[in-house]
Amino acid sequence: RIVYVNGAYVPEAEATISVFDRGLLFADGVYEVTAVIGGKLLDFAAHMARLRRSLRELALPSPMEDDAILAIHRELVARNALDLGHVYLMVTRGAADRDFAFPPEGTKPSLVLFTQARAAIETPEATRGLKVATVPDLRWARRDIKTVQLLYPSMAKMEARSRGADDAWMVEDGFVTEGTSNNAYIVTQEGTIVTRSLSNAILHGITRAAVLRTAAEHGVRVEERAFTVDEAKGAREAFITSAGAFVTPVVAIDDVPVGTGMPGELTKRMRANYLEEAL
Ligand code: PDD
Repeated sequence: RIVYVNGAYVPEAEATISVFDRGLLFADGVYEVTAVIGGKLLDFAAHMARLRRSLRELALPSPMEDDAILAIHRELVARNALDLGHVYLMVTRGAADRDFAFPPEGTKPSLVLFTQARAAIETPEATRGLKVATVPDLRWARRDIKTVQLLYPSMAKMEARSRGADDAWMVEDGFVTEGTSNNAYIVTQEGTIVTRSLSNAILHGITRAAVLRTAAEHGVRVEERAFTVDEAKGAREAFITSAGAFVTPVVAIDDVPVGTGMPGELTKRMRANYLEEAL
């Protein structure tokens, strides 16, 4: 695989980054994951807008203009002949002496990109649906910033796995915030899609925005509000969205089947509609 690191396209085994990089020492960096279908980048402009916002919120310098970042994405997709999967991008504050204070102005941010091929469309998860386990949301309070500080979500996923589930839904004050790397939704018995409204408590998903647009176009009712674990367990359907999962059904929460315990009809329709518009 050819990856990009600080100006160079190199085989992954030859890519290097400083041991003093603040991404490594402080998780001082932000990232984006952009889906690729048929060699095309999905919603690239929206990912760049969110990247700009993450950078601004952390006073991280921008490594380059959007056009140049797009050119790197395209070059990596071409060099790796990527048909289906995603491009990962990470910007860190760069290498400097280890100090909690930010390094002096002029420190060069690091920019790393790589591709991952994934059979993201005909997946077993999409067909059979995911089981989720609920865990307390112990992340920091600025989950709207897409930082590379992902240890807790990673631990939450392992906890879910140890309980026989596929992924975790995180819970704060009794309400579901989101999945470890995806936004969370339920469908009420009346057929309304419910998902948490945007705030610092969750990541503002690009797929979320696209799916809510798709719902509006198809006349599906949407309520943006928090829902409890109990409401979710009693819902007709549940699903998640992300650049990696698109729309993927959730069929059980803490071993309680959601609806029939099979992927829901509206969920399947939303997935098909989303992919149709994306392609
Ligand atoms: N994760 N919530 C969290 C905490 C996320 O990490 C993600 C994305 C999402 C969904 O956002 P989007 O629709 O823009 O992908 C929600 C990426 C895919 C990841 O970490 O791999």
